[in-house]
Amino acid sequence: MKTITLGIFGGGTVGGGVVEILSQQKAVFEAQGICIEIKKLCVRDTGKKRDFQLPEETIVVSDFSKILEDEEIDLVVECIGGTTKAKDIVFESIKKGKSVVTANKALISAYLSELEALLAQYPKAGFGFEASVGGGIPIIHTLARDLVGDPIQKISGILNGTTNFILSKMEKEGADYAKTLKEAQDLGYAESDPTADIEGYDARSKIAILAKVAFGVVVEESSIFMKGISQITKEDFAYADLLGGTIKLLVVAEKKGNSFSIYVSPMIVPYSHNLAPIGGATNAVLIGSKYLSETVLVGQGAGRFPTANAIVSDILLIAHGVDVAAFSKKESLVKDDNIEGKFYIRMRIKDGLGIVRRVAECCEKAGVSIDSVQQLPIENPNDVPFVVTTDKTTLSAIEKVCEEVGRETFCLEKPFFMPIL
Ligand code: NAP
Ligand code: HSE
Repeated sequence: MKTITLGIFGGGTVGGGVVEILSQQKAVFEAQGICIEIKKLCVRDTGKKRDFQLPEETIVVSDFSKILEDEEIDLVVECIGGTTKAKDIVFESIKKGKSVVTANKALISAYLSELEALLAQYPKAGFGFEASVGGGIPIIHTLARDLVGDPIQKISGILNGTTNFILSKMEKEGADYAKTLKEAQDLGYAESDPTADIEGYDARSKIAILAKVAFGVVVEESSIFMKGISQITKEDFAYADLLGGTIKLLVVAEKKGNSFSIYVSPMIVPYSHNLAPIGGATNAVLIGSKYLSETVLVGQGAGRFPTANAIVSDILLIAHGVDVAAFSKKESLVKDDNIEGKFYIRMRIKDGLGIVRRVAECCEKAGVSIDSVQQLPIENPNDVPFVVTTDKTTLSAIEKVCEEVGRETFCLEKPFFMPIL
């Protein structure tokens, strides 16, 4: 029997789930010849009552060094989140030759190059981060191990459970935004600062990680085009419905020859598309690859057990000596920021004469061809949501249109735009 001694940082939604699964599945893992012992759990407040049962022998600490300096601990599970203290934990553990398993996409994405270099320096330290992208969906293992011989061309999909939960409730129930966010927080889906979910940062970290695993490129997060869902209104859902679709916060990374594009944005998704019915905190990833064509992975993208299950899977792989080699791809591709596609532009206008003509002029000037003009019957002439959709064009052309229309006196705020899938 091989014994793996763990030190777990974090006893919240995810950390608690890891403890529970390891306890419940102990006999199953022992039957595989692996005995996993949780020697220490590090939390902020050692006196807090936990919503999970700790094994009797586990010691609860709040001082990081009690785990980091413990030579008996050979694998560290990091579930505290953030990019400061968690960075010290992860980097220190690796330097001490301990393996690390983490769900922390913000950390991995911010320090991809440094982590890669450090792991190369300490080859004995295993590193698992399946839980960092797509919660319970095995996307990292699939890309790194199962599609190892299949060149990946495109990754797209829904990678944030909180926003998908909110958008699906807005679509189906006309639900109130703030109330639904609170529900997502109570269910343990949201990040400690939910702005990370709502404004797209969480999804951006995840697609940056997938771009490394799938294409071998390291992308500076701040350079990725990102738009969140805070500007989405119930009128957008009404217009999306008129256009035969719904709205989802999507991530896209696509390789074209020697270049690639990458972005996070709400998008109009036609009802006929695979992603349209994906509701709640469910995530879905579409992988476009040379030999397999399209592969779809769907599953729970957030929450205690789905995420903890991905962590446990990494612990087991490391215990069995399996190196997923998720960072092994390296390519130098040029990032193309001028995203191409059809777009939806929604303006809020004060009703008046000649507005459609003026908007059309701005489109013409920017070389943007209009596909449709949408206006629901006016309820309040002082604040009318008005929409145009475009033919295939570029992000820079759409930005020009929005800039110019936004300067018009009839326009109540800068127009909002999103791509159409
Ligand atoms: P959480 O419920 O807020 O739990 C955080 C835990 O970390 C708490 O137990 C807290 O201790 C502990 N902690 C925080 N700061 C600490 C410090 N300075 N020293 C010691 N302990 C500290 O967070 P979570 O939802 O489990 O998320 C953890 C990580 O998993 C994050 O990186 C998140 O992005 C990632 N993740 C979460 C989900 C999800 O669905 N929740 C899914 C995928 C990935 P106390 O309990 O004593 O306060
Ligand atoms: N806050 C994240 C989400 C957790 O809502 O998807 C999973 O990474």
